[in-house]
Amino acid sequence: MKKFARIIGTGSYLPSKVVTNFDLEKTLNTSDDWITARTGIKERRIVTDQSTCDLALEASLKALSMAKLKPQDIDLIILSTTTPDKIFPATATMLQDRLGASCPAFDIQAVCAGFVFALTTAQQYIENGSAKNILVVGSETMSKIVDWSDRSTAILFADGAGAVVLSTDNTTGIKHSKICSDGSYLSSLHVNNNGINELGTIQMEGNEVFKIAVNRLSDLAEETLKDCNMTSEDLTWMVPHQANIRIINAVAKKIKLPMDKVIQTLDKHGNTSAASIPLALDEGVRDGRINKGDTLLFEGIGGGFSWGSILLEY
Ligand code: ACO
Repeated sequence: MKKFARIIGTGSYLPSKVVTNFDLEKTLNTSDDWITARTGIKERRIVTDQSTCDLALEASLKALSMAKLKPQDIDLIILSTTTPDKIFPATATMLQDRLGASCPAFDIQAVCAGFVFALTTAQQYIENGSAKNILVVGSETMSKIVDWSDRSTAILFADGAGAVVLSTDNTTGIKHSKICSDGSYLSSLHVNNNGINELGTIQMEGNEVFKIAVNRLSDLAEETLKDCNMTSEDLTWMVPHQANIRIINAVAKKIKLPMDKVIQTLDKHGNTSAASIPLALDEGVRDGRINKGDTLLFEGIGGGFSWGSILLEY
């Protein structure tokens, strides 16, 4: 009998410090009007003294609680992050220790597509019977790799974490997943590794990223729907990576999906990279918009570039 990977718990966590567009006006040559019109972002959360693992822990505990599982019930932890707390060990390993779990744990790095890559990897372990319950986390402290004097990037990125528990189900769950990469776009969006104790900052060609994101994500969404013999009318919700409201609008328009079927958290969360999809998912689940049996489409694209989509029955 085919095994499906199904989400049975979601959780998220945001640091308490709110940085509004008006706060950024005080330090950058920018304005609330410009940021709102060009990105859809109004405010974002930024850590003061918390680590990527601290955020991941809070989101994971909430997801485990919803799934009614204990850390000892988890067979594998996969954590997607662009901002690991250390070069090694993996932040997932540190999370395993703090949760009191004893399963294997590893990190995945695909920037803003990280959660889709992590969930797709977890799906394989469940479908081939190697794991029953997997904790999949997206956690980021993007504020640590932002150049706070660069107005073209500082307005976009933010901190937060989201998590899901993926479990074996005999009837339904993830129906389709696809991940893609094209490393020839390195210069469009990257961060240099400047060596010991010297992190680089986000370097981005915003216009280029914008165009590629819209084209790659809409093509992949169309391909995903076609492979599943569906149209966008069959989707209950799209839960996209939250990078820019104009990217989300353009993709929805291309696949003929009304915006009232899109979960948006961009205005309050900004771009939290690998955390943005599970953060938006958890918000939709907890406020009652997303319900069991709903058909969801996740899609995201990240620096340099990697992108992917997942279609699932929640
Ligand atoms: N405030 C005011 N003016 C600004 C700001 C700012 N914060 N940032 C740039 N400008 C200026 C520019 O200097 C430029 O001025 P000029 O015409 O005098 O040269 C003008 O605004 C227009 O700049 P553009 O870069 O052309 O503005 P654009 O409409 O492309 O918006 C933006 C910029 C918001 C970055 C957009 O390109 C974008 O969102 N791109 C996608 C970026 C993204 O989503 N990255 C992450 C996705 S992948 C991932 O999540 C890792």
